Formats: sequence, structure tokens, C-alpha cells
Amino acid sequence: MPKDITSLVFAKKINEMKIGIAADHGGFELKEIINAFLLKKEYEVVDFGAHKLDDKDDYPDFVIPLAKAIASNEVERGIAICGSGVGASIAANKVAGVRAALINDYFSSHQGVEDDDMNLICFGGRVIGISAAQEFITAFLNAKFTGAERHVRRLQKVKQLEKI
Ligand code: RB5
Repeated sequence: MPKDITSLVFAKKINEMKIGIAADHGGFELKEIINAFLLKKEYEVVDFGAHKLDDKDDYPDFVIPLAKAIASNEVERGIAICGSGVGASIAANKVAGVRAALINDYFSSHQGVEDDDMNLICFGGRVIGISAAQEFITAFLNAKFTGAERHVRRLQKVKQLEKI
């Protein structure tokens, strides 16, 4: 194929997945690094804050808006960071349609999506290293829900809980 303008335009891969990120003071520094990492990979990123480091801020103020944006499909997937990742995952899972998990290993980063349709990955900014977080995010964003009957069946049972 000739290297005309059209082929040059299509050669540039743009990541179309829209990603939401959020963090309190415990995850602020890592969020800023992850934001730059995602932008470099050409993802569209929506930053739900915090937008400045404030030791007195509260993770639900940032994580819940991100979780709601996932539930409403404003963003496709999300990354939430607090000090441990525990508070972020607890808060996010209160929002119907959000499937959040605190992740600290590579296997769960992708298997959580493949089997459980995880749409929000949570980290502890005081726990995880930058390189590990970046590897886990890459695995999370590249993974797809398999749609296997047994996983759909299990998810339906989980979704029933959102109606209680
Ligand atoms: C805030 O200091 C810290 O408690 C919070 O970021 C998080 O670790 C909660 O799970």
C-alpha cells in the first residue's frame, strides 16, 4: 500500500476507550502519574479529582462521582486510588452497575475483567509501586469480559443484589 496521507492517518493508533480516574490524598501522587501514563498511551482521560493535594479530603467525594460516571457509561472503565484502596473499593461498589476490586496482582488485573466484568480497578497509593500499577492497568484495560455462560450466570446473580 502506498504511504499516502490516508495510510499515515490510519497508522496512528488512538485508544478510544474513555477512562475515569479518581483519588483522595492517599492516592493523589499516584493518580497524577497514572494520568500522564494514560495520556501518553492516547487514552481519553476524565479526572474526577482530587485536583490538588489536601490531607483532609475524603475519598467518597471523588470515587463516587467516578463510579456514577461508569454506571451511566460516561466513562467505560475507571481507576480509583486511596491510601489502601480499601475505602475506594467499598464506596464504589455501593453504586449499582459498578464492579470494583482492590487489585494487587497481575492475574487478577485481567481475570477480574475476563470472568467478573470488573469495570473499576482500585489501588492503594501507599501500597503499590508505580511500575506494578502501570502493568496492572495495562492488563486491566486490554482485558475483555469473555461472556461465557457461567460468568454471565454468576453476574446475573450479583446483579440481582442491586435490586434488593
Ligand atoms: C486516608 O488517610 C485513608 O484512610 C484513605 O485514603 C484510604 O486508605 C481508605 O481506605
